[in-house]
Amino acid sequence: MLDGSVQIAPSILSADFSRLCEEIAKVDRGGADMIHLDIMDGHFVPNITYAMPIVEGLRRYTDLPLDVHLMISDPLTYAKPMVDVGADLLTFHVEAVQDPVEAAQRIGELGVAVGVALNPKTPLEKLAGCESHVDMVLVMSVEAGFGGQQFAPVSLEKLRALKDKHPDLLLEVDGGINANTIGPARQAGCDLFVVGSAIFRRDDLDDYGEAMEELTAAINAAGGKERMGQS
Ligand code: DX5
Ligand code: ZN
Repeated sequence: MLDGSVQIAPSILSADFSRLCEEIAKVDRGGADMIHLDIMDGHFVPNITYAMPIVEGLRRYTDLPLDVHLMISDPLTYAKPMVDVGADLLTFHVEAVQDPVEAAQRIGELGVAVGVALNPKTPLEKLAGCESHVDMVLVMSVEAGFGGQQFAPVSLEKLRALKDKHPDLLLEVDGGINANTIGPARQAGCDLFVVGSAIFRRDDLDDYGEAMEELTAAINAAGGKERMGQS
């Protein structure tokens, strides 16, 4: 799953929940590398989404890796339940824990890949060295909580700084990623791209594969490591 390749993870937050499995099948056919699942508790962020039962159902439906983004105040309590229902990559927010190194280690002990996320206003120092204990750092390019927000350029500086300091660390970006912002994020060193509205809300396109092709073209035009397309 996390083999160093450039990947696109559609975020189902912007999908049509009345036909969720169909939506997953459509992004799978369109070439999605992972499915990004946004778990919100109405406390860490001012929004509530879904949790274990939905993740469990999706796990039975798709073979795509599940990239679970915990936007919750108590990630350590819910890490094991999330792993038990099928999370492959589990990301906690650095703002939600006392000791990021300990949190990374405890989640890693559950046998999943671990990510640590930080919001646009949170400085990199807050990571407190846990970069060496995770598989991936998720740089939020919008304030966590809602889809469809505008990309915050401060994330580019963070991606560059992280890549300079840890050239082998995988970096993910989430929020406001579209065909205009994905190239600069790739140039800043990002490997994994979470995309919500720019896949699920492109009513001008015939299918999600077309949206992913556009995103892939923008990644590959940015130079450096390329994303393998569908064909
Ligand atoms: C926001 C979520 C994102 C969201 C991104 O807190 O973490 O995953 O779905 O949506 P877009 O791509 O529309 O900004
Ligand atoms: Zn997310």
